[in-house]
Amino acid sequence: MTRTEFRQVIRARRNQLSEQQQQDDAHQLLDTLLKVDEWVNASTIALYLSFDGEINTQNLIQWCWDHGKRVCVPVLHPFSTGQLLFLEYTPSTPMRINQYNIAEPALNQLSIVPVATIDLIATPLVGFDNNGHRIGMGGGYYDRTLAPFLHTTTGPMALGLAHHCQHVEKLPTESWDVPLPCIVTPSKIWRW
Ligand SMILES: Nc1ncnc2c1ncn2[C@@H]1O[C@H](COP(=O)(O)OP(=O)(O)O)[C@@H](O)[C@H]1O
Ligand SMILES: [Mg+2]
Repeated sequence: MTRTEFRQVIRARRNQLSEQQQQDDAHQLLDTLLKVDEWVNASTIALYLSFDGEINTQNLIQWCWDHGKRVCVPVLHPFSTGQLLFLEYTPSTPMRINQYNIAEPALNQLSIVPVATIDLIATPLVGFDNNGHRIGMGGGYYDRTLAPFLHTTTGPMALGLAHHCQHVEKLPTESWDVPLPCIVTPSKIWRW
């Protein structure tokens, strides 16, 4: 299968999850994350606002707020095409809908969180495999965000979040794909 076919097949699987399964997965994902030291110890965490059957992150965001963590979420860069900015996200952040129909904070320079100051970036993904390789929606946004830190010991740690049905044995990869050191599903912590 090609990358495009993998995206189609896995997105269809994800969209077939029932509302009950989605709720159970979101609930169990938080329980599992509480066993991940990097999650518990992070001060600044980048999350994302779920869409298209992605595992719901609202309870994770609420947990972060309740535990005094600074939460930021991605915003499409206004003129640097293909790049993400991360903006602080609080219960009172004014929001807008971007070109992909995803909610994002309205641009505000004062809320920009430099990527190098983020402890943990929870990355959305369409599919992942036995080696920690991920495919996303096809925009390469997280590859670009994570690439500068790939061969350094500084910068944020990336942590993939997924439903179990997003796992496949092996994905076709490209040279620019940044593999993830850790992926958490509702029932399992994968590390590489
Ligand atoms: N670090 C990077 N610098 C520039 N372009 C990149 C980078 N990483 C990925 N891209 C580009 O983004 C596009 C989509 O990447 P892809 O890996 O297919 O998407 P995704 O990771 O969302 O599944 C590709 O055309 C790729 O060349
Ligand atoms: Mg990629």
